[in-house]
Amino acid sequence: MDIGTVNALPYEDFVNIFGNVVEKCPIITAAVWSRRPFANLAALEAAISDFIEALPDSGKEGILRCHPDLAGRDLQSGMLTKESREEQARAGLDALSSAEAWRITRLNEEYKRRFGFPFVVCARMNDKEEILKQLSERCVNEPAVEKARGIEEVKKICRLRLQGVVLTDAHNKL
Ligand code: GUN
Repeated sequence: MDIGTVNALPYEDFVNIFGNVVEKCPIITAAVWSRRPFANLAALEAAISDFIEALPDSGKEGILRCHPDLAGRDLQSGMLTKESREEQARAGLDALSSAEAWRITRLNEEYKRRFGFPFVVCARMNDKEEILKQLSERCVNEPAVEKARGIEEVKKICRLRLQGVVLTDAHNKL
């Protein structure tokens, strides 16, 4: 899909196609549609990033809270979004040993108790060992540091999801 095609999408199609580049936050996609035309894919990504950065802290926390726990209940019950399911499977989180599953559940709970939002990491850039290590390390961060870190991870996830949508076409011009 080239950028001209993206720019020509009516908002209904734009939201249908790009609505989950930030997990369960189609309102962000719906908002940035009015920033068209985008010069390229990086400009669309920057518009999403600018929108997120302009939110108050409560809005940023809200974005983090839209993310399911990694290897959590939604994965067990098949309730993940397609994107999250693929990312978690690629990192090996759908095939944890019982010891690993117990550990990640305990650490996710500890993290959420401390910060009031779930641990978010770009699963496609990490394997399960690295994710467990980061989860354990990040649990001791200051809340403000961790909120900013979570949002940076949201942006990395967003970049890879955008590329997944747009760059699948070998003849793309982005
Ligand atoms: N990293 C990539 N996808 C996800 C997700 O769905 N949830 C969390 N917590 N982190 C992620």
